[in-house]
Amino acid sequence: MRPTLATLPPKVAVKIMSAGRRAFMRRFVAETPKPLTIPTNLTVKIWDISFRLPILNAAGMFKNGEGYAVVAAQGAGGYVAGTTTFTAREGNVRDGVKWPVAMYPLSGVASNWLGLPNPGHAEVAKRLSTISRVAGCPIGASMSADSGVEETISLDGLAQGFAMYDKAGVDFIEINESCPNVTDAHHGLQVDAGLIRRLEFIAQHLLHKRTRNLPVVVKLSTDVAADQILDLIPMLETMGFDGMILGNTSTNYGVHRADIQPAEEGLYEYFTQTFGGGLSGSVLRGQSAELVGAARRCVAELSLRKEFRIIQCGGICGAEDVVGQADELHQWYSGYFDQFARYGHRVYQEFARGMA
Ligand SMILES: Cc1cc2nc3c(=O)[nH]c(=O)nc-3n(C[C@H](O)[C@H](O)[C@H](O)COP(=O)(O)O)c2cc1C
Repeated sequence: MRPTLATLPPKVAVKIMSAGRRAFMRRFVAETPKPLTIPTNLTVKIWDISFRLPILNAAGMFKNGEGYAVVAAQGAGGYVAGTTTFTAREGNVRDGVKWPVAMYPLSGVASNWLGLPNPGHAEVAKRLSTISRVAGCPIGASMSADSGVEETISLDGLAQGFAMYDKAGVDFIEINESCPNVTDAHHGLQVDAGLIRRLEFIAQHLLHKRTRNLPVVVKLSTDVAADQILDLIPMLETMGFDGMILGNTSTNYGVHRADIQPAEEGLYEYFTQTFGGGLSGSVLRGQSAELVGAARRCVAELSLRKEFRIIQCGGICGAEDVVGQADELHQWYSGYFDQFARYGHRVYQEFARGMA
């Protein structure tokens, strides 16, 4: 239905797509697919943790910490919950549209302006602590500092959330430093003093006090200038971080307009002008691949003392996008749902077949 929806009057299309996405997700996480097997030779070991496939969902798909059983049964290489904040967030509403999204299926692109809706660290950590694990499908939690409050309060919330996820037994933590949909927050388009202060706080108060193997990675936007990202790598490693995810959605609307098919241009203009939001999907592929390549070369040249991983996220649509990188980790969101539309619950099995 999505290609047809994208050609409706833009206002109507956004209403239907936004309500449709919420309804779809409610049903999706309640599915009970038959567990599928994934060949064991595709397992990748990172930070001494086994991921049975080098791909898992990107943050934002399971904001409430639900849906693990679904993707674990599908054969996912792992699972990420969140992003959560200390205080629960309602998310964005504008012009009567709750959590606005638009999909441009002919172009392989999507927009979202959700505004980080989530029930808070405590609720999600509690839910994650009760999950029955499936071997080779580790659990990650994505967290962010609260915006709109004093820095000390925001950092304290981050520290409390970290402790909750640690106690819940998650396998790794992502620090989301790149959400474009939160007003007056760290926008994530540049490495500024606020970001460095947050990273230093995490390093001093959280990373150095870990009592178990709990890797922590920082997720940035691929809109951040490459030289700033490369400068951050040795800094993060010295602070004790375990890697970087590149990256989040893009707000480079002008640049990416060229990739939108004519039939979807009207919807694209309406959404980016009315809501703004972040762009995801195939438009990010080149940007993320280029940045990830440069970052991995930088890690190799620095011959760092500890294992520091660069995780690719953005525009991954299938096994062909991870060719030659089977020993590295990848995340997907928009491409996952394009593939789900095609293969249903066999989505990870098809990915594994493609890799083989
Ligand atoms: C609807 C939607 C919600 C998202 N929410 C989050 C989020 O809560 N935290 C986060 O770090 N990234 C979030 N993202 C960004 C994705 O994790 C990912 O970085 C981005 O979509 C690029 O990957 P893709 O091209 O595979 O979609 C969201 C993306 C979408 C489409």
